[in-house]
Amino acid sequence: MRILLTGGTGYIGSHTAITLSSAGHEVVLLDNLCNSQIDVVARIEKILGKKIVFYQADVRDTDALIAILQTEKIDAVIHLAGLKAVGESWQKPIDYYACNVGGSISLASAMKVAGVRILVFSSSATVYGDPKYLPYDEEHPTSPTNPYGRNKLQVEQLLHDLANSSDEWCITCLRYFNPVGAHESGLIGENPNGIPNNLMPVVAQVATGRLPLLNIYGNDYETIDGTGMRDYIHVMDLAEGHLTAIEWIAKNNGCHYFNLGSGTSHSVLELVSEFEKASGKTIPRKVISRREGDLPNYYAQADKALRLLHWKTSRNLSDMCESTWRWEQQRLA
Ligand code: NAD
Ligand code: UFG
Repeated sequence: MRILLTGGTGYIGSHTAITLSSAGHEVVLLDNLCNSQIDVVARIEKILGKKIVFYQADVRDTDALIAILQTEKIDAVIHLAGLKAVGESWQKPIDYYACNVGGSISLASAMKVAGVRILVFSSSATVYGDPKYLPYDEEHPTSPTNPYGRNKLQVEQLLHDLANSSDEWCITCLRYFNPVGAHESGLIGENPNGIPNNLMPVVAQVATGRLPLLNIYGNDYETIDGTGMRDYIHVMDLAEGHLTAIEWIAKNNGCHYFNLGSGTSHSVLELVSEFEKASGKTIPRKVISRREGDLPNYYAQADKALRLLHWKTSRNLSDMCESTWRWEQQRLA
């Protein structure tokens, strides 16, 4: 298939482009570069050993999208473009709704005009909100607790209604858990702007000395060691999840939801200890108070993806830490 990836130079988009292209699909990348750099295209080309088509465009520009979908004869779209910082979504709700919800409306409109009906949407486990039970399965009630999460749920609802409006639409919403890690080459990885918020990039920057220490947000949760637990998923496993999802949805109409997670969770201290092993560095740390809005523990019920997509994770926490460390060192070289 010829697949357009919006947000294609971002963290997950760039890894997904490699997996899709390696599997024989042709990828076209689109990004407005608000949270990624143009040199990612050359890095992807180096890994793949071939040229990649890239458009600098905003997903809210419906006319530009229509032209790209038609010119490039696109069969399917993976919609990753969006703003993703939970904290920032409280401060800039208009930007978040305009980009995440408005951008998705624009894309769906363009696809309708251009006759493209296969869509994979980057959603998030954050749509579930406070766990009524664990692991979260796809039937768990959705009740996001922040504007970013509400954006994701609103787009899921739009796509559900779109699929109901005509049985031509083939849509999957992938609910990612906590993506971490990098491509094994060390050429691409997560490249957060400014001081990162998420655990793995903070740990990586502490290991290289760019940050002085890791603040651990609480060690009095009811978890194995008192620190928060999450379902970390290697970004290359996630990329393979996109491949299986797009090949499956191309043959199935309607709107479908899949958790993409490992089905287990790890604590902050477990991740730090594994990173110390991978890097040979000591991670200085300090326990401070809980971060507002953090949940103690959550993880995916990943059976639906296994049953229908024949997909499951194959990389472990050690792989996630080793690949992150390789990327972090390469970035500084
Ligand atoms: P990222 O910021 O690295 O990638 C997103 C890309 O979209 C960036 O390159 C950015 O420049 C681009 N972009 C943003 N707004 C745009 C617009 N209006 N038009 C065109 N391009 C635009 O983030 P990521 O981690 O790769 O996330 C990709 C998607 O997955 C996002 O939708 C995010 O919400 C979702 N997601 C991410 C995580 C995570 O922890 N990384 C978890 C769950 C869901
Ligand atoms: N943590 C620390 N110190 C830090 C950063 C994080 O102790 O400096 C802890 C957190 O308290 C939490 C765990 O590490 O227990 C993971 O935190 P992250 O910020 O890495 O991830 P979150 O689960 O909070 O959120 C992430 C994304 C969201 C997305 C969600 C999906 O930031 O956008 O995963 O599950 F919605």
